[in-house]
Amino acid sequence: MQTDQGASYAGILGIGAYRPARLVPNAEIVDAIDSSDEWIQQRSGIKTRGFADDSETVVAMSVAASRDALAHAGVDPRQVDCVIVATVSHLLQTPSAATAVAHELGTDQAAAFDISAACAGFCHGVALASDLVRGGSARYVLVIGVERLSDITSNTDRGTAFIFADGAGAAVIGPSETPAIGPVVWGSDGEQYDLIRQREDWRDVLASDSPEMPHLVMQGNAVFRWASYSMAKVAQQALDRAGITVDELDCFVPHQANNRITDAMARAMKLPAHVRIARDIVDAGNTSAASVPLALERMIRDGDAKSGDVALLVAFGAGLAYAAQVVTIPWDPPPPP
Ligand code: UT7
Repeated sequence: MQTDQGASYAGILGIGAYRPARLVPNAEIVDAIDSSDEWIQQRSGIKTRGFADDSETVVAMSVAASRDALAHAGVDPRQVDCVIVATVSHLLQTPSAATAVAHELGTDQAAAFDISAACAGFCHGVALASDLVRGGSARYVLVIGVERLSDITSNTDRGTAFIFADGAGAAVIGPSETPAIGPVVWGSDGEQYDLIRQREDWRDVLASDSPEMPHLVMQGNAVFRWASYSMAKVAQQALDRAGITVDELDCFVPHQANNRITDAMARAMKLPAHVRIARDIVDAGNTSAASVPLALERMIRDGDAKSGDVALLVAFGAGLAYAAQVVTIPWDPPPPP
């Protein structure tokens, strides 16, 4: 039997983003949940979030972010061998969003599938893509994190209405001459399966006299304590596995769940002052699987992450599932439009 031999190393070759046109300030959210702009900013850091309109579907946002990523990577869509979409809010059970995205991009020959690892989905996708490239199963892989959480969030639920948001981020993963994606540290804690979840399963919804969308529910404070305590350890393990110290790190790009969780992780890891920290949540809210690539794209666009910089990604969410890895920032930011 023959086996495939892939590239020695894989790297992120390009990053792209799609942000919904409509930005919703806290003032538009607060009345329905008896809250205030001040409380939301203090507790989470969020000022605005993007809510998609009817035309900004999971597939449409994924295609737009992917085109952006492919252009920046200089990779033709027809060169893509595999499309991975990480999402929990593609509301068609089957077929996958990835097959539609691949078709719209003109990559019909590509393998295409969705993965469900909630807010950790993009980092799971990067780990899979890196191994596909190094294992020889694919040369170029498109990894997309995308959500329309506004479809599955109740605007009257105090624990989630101000947090969750919409958007898409994409990365092209391909061969690299130097190590540019470190070993993944990933796992799950199923004992805490109920902390963030769809309220009830579809059979229970349909058996009800007045069926309504089973929205997300979250025991926010329990998730907050778990993430603040455990995720710094996971992030540190990812640094250790890559042989990088915090002094060698340039950028910290955690899942944009809550600025206070980000602060707690940075303190626990004793990140030096020179490490630039992603704060995309302030404008974008918590976009689950899209949050890490959106935050990365923002840092590159703002000049906070430069070509060759070493960035630590860590993401965590429903499941509870988590994943972290060190990556190298691929290219200089494009000139402003
Ligand atoms: O992306 C997936 C992973 N998700 C996360 O990582 C989210 C993690 N959790 C969080 O970000 C935070 O738990 C929240 C931002 C959701 C909530 O912040 P918190 O500091 O954990 O608040 P809490 O639930 O402990 O509530 C504190 C107080 C309570 O009042 P009392 O009992 O102290 O008087 C709540 O009733 O805040 C009250 N409260 C609110 N007040 C205004 C709870 N929700 C709200 C609200 N507006 N929306």
